[in-house]
Amino acid sequence: MSELIRERFSRPADEFAAKFVASVDADRQIVAHDIRGSIAHATMLAKQGLITAAERDSIVRGLEQILKEWEAGTFRLDVANEDVHMNVEKRLGELSGKDAARLHTARSRNDQVALDLRLWTLETGREIVKAVGAACGSLARRAREHARTLFPGITHLQHAQPVVFGHVLLAYYDRLVRDAGRFEDALRRADVSPLGACAMAGTSLPIEPAQTARALGLGGTFTNSIDAVSDRDFACEFVSACAILAAHLSQMAEDMIYWSTPEFGFIELPDELCTSSSIMPQKKNPDMVELVRGKAAGVVGNLVNLLGTIKALPIGYNRDLQETKPPVFDAAQTVRLSLRAMTLAVDGMKVRAPRMLECASDPQMLATDLAEYLVTKNVPFRDAHGAVARLMRVCAERGRSPVEMTLKELRGYSPAFGKDVHALLTPQASVASRRSPGGTAPDLVEKRARSLAKGSS
Ligand code: ARG
Repeated sequence: MSELIRERFSRPADEFAAKFVASVDADRQIVAHDIRGSIAHATMLAKQGLITAAERDSIVRGLEQILKEWEAGTFRLDVANEDVHMNVEKRLGELSGKDAARLHTARSRNDQVALDLRLWTLETGREIVKAVGAACGSLARRAREHARTLFPGITHLQHAQPVVFGHVLLAYYDRLVRDAGRFEDALRRADVSPLGACAMAGTSLPIEPAQTARALGLGGTFTNSIDAVSDRDFACEFVSACAILAAHLSQMAEDMIYWSTPEFGFIELPDELCTSSSIMPQKKNPDMVELVRGKAAGVVGNLVNLLGTIKALPIGYNRDLQETKPPVFDAAQTVRLSLRAMTLAVDGMKVRAPRMLECASDPQMLATDLAEYLVTKNVPFRDAHGAVARLMRVCAERGRSPVEMTLKELRGYSPAFGKDVHALLTPQASVASRRSPGGTAPDLVEKRARSLAKGSS
């Protein structure tokens, strides 16, 4: 507990208690933001006549020096000074002398820390949006490359319908685009300066919060000083966007893990992204993508942690809020690393098109095509579904394929089958026919992948 603010007490801080309440570990992430906030604050104080221009210059010089020392690794956060705010103030006292004592005019650590976390969230959120864009670029490029590569589409992990592999990759693309949108939404609400809310009630001194907000490049100021210092919903939204993104990356990782098994054999991850076993010399394991899946759990945990921390807080600042920083930092770090890992995996995966085609050629997967064919011959869909289901049951039982059945045999299931049916019975014809909006027809996928890849390169 910082000695700068212990005059109220007759006894020094207990060593354990001082360590317990300190936040210096997490605060390493927000040193630069804290200093930027202080420079803006000192500038505003001078404009408002609350400090002199000379005092402002001395404070700003000192703060700039501390930033330099921080970047050079010579300014360290001392646990004895509790947190980043008191550490900076202490060092400023050494550098700027008595002028430093004026910096905390009309300010509290409560509005300071809320500002720092918002600045950090905005900066990091923008970087994550960029990294999502890079992952999308890779997906679009691989989708363009595989816009005509047949792939066995699955539901319930069972053969469903032939699709093209590019269509699968663009499904991830769409998810990630929504993820980027979620960050952008969250950042819009984070883009508010709480500076000037002070401890919780504002101040009797003539401050101008809009000035500090402008100087920091923030979109606006708070409208209620209590809310400004005591809510962290912007952090919850940010971590929630992280958790959904992490879940999406984990789903993608899961697909790559089983696609690269010998049983599926759809893709191969490059050696440089794989690890081996300490005992089984033949092993090539997809540990990196497995860890994308594994680490997603931690991000979901970060969100639960955060919501749990805030859900029962009485209105006003509570020290519990200090605990909201680590899950925010941790969630962001995990999704940044996971995005990089998945971008490398998407760029590097070798696609085994012949194996995909072999599985996509399962004639059972053409059942929906047959049913839709009957619909074009005016058979009600439910009746067509029944006829094809019977046909497919017999094929499955007798190890036969509808492709090799004669027209006469097919007519045994529905008299509406005509001579043109056989031309339909290939996976190529199947995907080509699925031209409904957002469908898997290779022409549609190629067109979209091309324009997305162009937009992202
Ligand atoms: N270190 C605290 C935090 O991270 C800020 C200090 C607020 N302390 C206080 N006694 N009001 O939230």
